[in-house]
Amino acid sequence: MERLPGFRDFYPDPVPSGDALAWSAGLRQHIQATWRRVAQRYGFVEYDGPPLEPLELYTLKSGEEIVQQLYHFVDKGDRAVALRPEMTPTLARMVASQERHYKKPLKWFAIPQLFRYERQQKGRLREHFQFNADIVGESDPAADAEIIALLVDTLRAFGLGPADVVVRISSRQAWQAFYRQQLGRTETDPAHEYAFYQVIDKLERTPREETCRRLRELGIAWEQVEAFLHQCSPTQELQVVLNELRDRGLQDFVQLDYRVIRGLAYYTGVVFEAFDRKGEFRAIAGGGRYDHLIHLVSGGRVDLPALGFGMGDVVLTELLKARGLVPAPQLRLHVFCLVEEPSLRREVLQLAQQLRDAGWAVDLPLGPEKPDKQFKRARDAGARFTVSLTREADGTKVAMVKDLQRREQIRCAPMEVLRRIQDATMSSGA
Ligand code: HAM
Repeated sequence: MERLPGFRDFYPDPVPSGDALAWSAGLRQHIQATWRRVAQRYGFVEYDGPPLEPLELYTLKSGEEIVQQLYHFVDKGDRAVALRPEMTPTLARMVASQERHYKKPLKWFAIPQLFRYERQQKGRLREHFQFNADIVGESDPAADAEIIALLVDTLRAFGLGPADVVVRISSRQAWQAFYRQQLGRTETDPAHEYAFYQVIDKLERTPREETCRRLRELGIAWEQVEAFLHQCSPTQELQVVLNELRDRGLQDFVQLDYRVIRGLAYYTGVVFEAFDRKGEFRAIAGGGRYDHLIHLVSGGRVDLPALGFGMGDVVLTELLKARGLVPAPQLRLHVFCLVEEPSLRREVLQLAQQLRDAGWAVDLPLGPEKPDKQFKRARDAGARFTVSLTREADGTKVAMVKDLQRREQIRCAPMEVLRRIQDATMSSGA
């Protein structure tokens, strides 16, 4: 049976080679643990929602592009449902329903698995994990700076520096002002306005003639867009954000860039995207302010400003691999208890239980196996110690603890094993 296209299998290390969609479960764990650690450092708390949501949650305001990519169906109760393609609408729904129980601003993060029926390409699959961090209930641009600082520090926590990555910062408001000025009116057709944002969003991936043609159809001249892109002066709000990032010493990681506008329809203010500096990969992360989404999702009941970002694991993994920043797989085992003498299996089990109770990762042979095979298994699993029991001629039981890292061995009484292992790891700082 084949795996569905664009979906991954996560295998233990070492991952079998030759299958681009066989990924490392250990690396996934490293990425998610790093995301959690940095989020907590910034005072964010974790939430989660269901992977299946009402279809309408996405047709409301996510925009045409993501709606076309939905995995959706009618369930047995005749409900139109969709697998979540992004987390923001779920967050908006959850906040709208329970916000009165929480003090504002909320600083919430989640690590959902998301599903989008995309054309499979480099950096884009049909399923990915995405770190989402959002602040709800704060309209001050200091919140925009805080969320961008979290994005930068998350990248730094993986070992990426300002020569590797950049967060390009822009403003939907600035673009909206430009758009309205071009059309010469303040009231505009939202579909027409969004169509314009889509052209800007795809600017770097579309041939210039095609962009010019699409702009012409919308009644906007390329030359005007080009001039706007080149002026490069920050709005007042963007200036505050840039200053706050400079005060944190993160200025080398960010740059004002009006080419960023974001594809999703709900953004209203500062928007940003993180890229690798060399421009080899798709966006690593993207986000911005969406001050009206909660109002919309709550049917007008709750009105809270919000902002955040999503960072996917797919491009991030490609980039970490390209920059040699994937850590060596974690050693899986501390101790392997050998059963060299089958009549002592009961005592070995007692010892293994004692070590596991003390928190050590311990394995042992489950069936009869030759001692050299057992030892090889201990080595393959990366065990630091092996322990075996023997019976002396006078019937007393003796333990042999081998430290495979230091190439030392100690003979001791079985009840001494735990303490000996604790001492050995303490003295080597393991
Ligand atoms: P997004 O730009 O659609 O934003 O996705 C954010 C990141 O998720 C992308 O930069 C990319 O790394 C990753 N990503 C998206 N689609 C795929 C895919 N098909 N395969 C692999 N990776 C992918 C959002 O989803 C917004 N909801 C983020 C947000 C949170 N805005 C405010 N709060």
